[in-house]
Amino acid sequence: MSHPDHTPIDLAVIGGSGLYKFPGLENTERCSIDTPYGSASGDVVIGDFVGRRVAFLARHGESHSLPPHRVNYRANLWALHSLGARRVIGVNAVGGIRADMGPRAIVVPDQLIDYTHGRYTSFCDVEGAEVKHIDFSEPYTESLRQQLITGARAAGIAAIDGGCYGATQGPRLETRAEIARMKRDGCDLVGMTGMPEASLARELSLEYACLALVANFAAGCGDEAEISIEEIFAHLAAATAEVPRILSAMLES
Ligand code: HPA
Repeated sequence: MSHPDHTPIDLAVIGGSGLYKFPGLENTERCSIDTPYGSASGDVVIGDFVGRRVAFLARHGESHSLPPHRVNYRANLWALHSLGARRVIGVNAVGGIRADMGPRAIVVPDQLIDYTHGRYTSFCDVEGAEVKHIDFSEPYTESLRQQLITGARAAGIAAIDGGCYGATQGPRLETRAEIARMKRDGCDLVGMTGMPEASLARELSLEYACLALVANFAAGCGDEAEISIEEIFAHLAAATAEVPRILSAMLES
């Protein structure tokens, strides 16, 4: 199915925790898409943003009813692709592992390690589907990453260029030992939704980049013995407020 007025979509945004509606999206219409993989997390909302067509989908549903391991990543990517989107930004709440990635930092990672399990990770497991082995050496689209960084800098936001995103199963946060292991593995950030979203986007040949919003220091990385969920949401709200500024600067540049 394509978008009713056939205006090409310039950018699709998948909103994570804290981003359930896209501020500034105007003249919106909602598209409910059936996919061969089941239902997306909700309607895709398409509208005008700084003179461009932008599609928005709330990853966890608009009322945050889907935990990370229950998100239908395949249906979400399929829905955006079938509407004609070719560039997708995944906005993800994360914990910071690296010392310079504390609360409210904004990072555009360039690598990832997948620690998730039991999720549908490919479009290839439908009977009769062609088996595709995608190259995933560089999991994010470099040109889109650079557009995000340039946009952030144009908006006066010092986004950190690069870092390794470790995707965990959730919905619980990690133990200190798990984070210590992830640090030894080379992870700089930890989040629960970065995979299989990135690899499914690659299977569909979508351009894809991640805008990671640091909500807290990961377990054992900050001064506190415990992570406060209230604090996570407070930092996340502050970082999320920057997202439309970054994306408008990106689309205008
Ligand atoms: N771990 C995993 N996912 C997260 C965290 C964390 O500490 N903070 C926000 N999302």
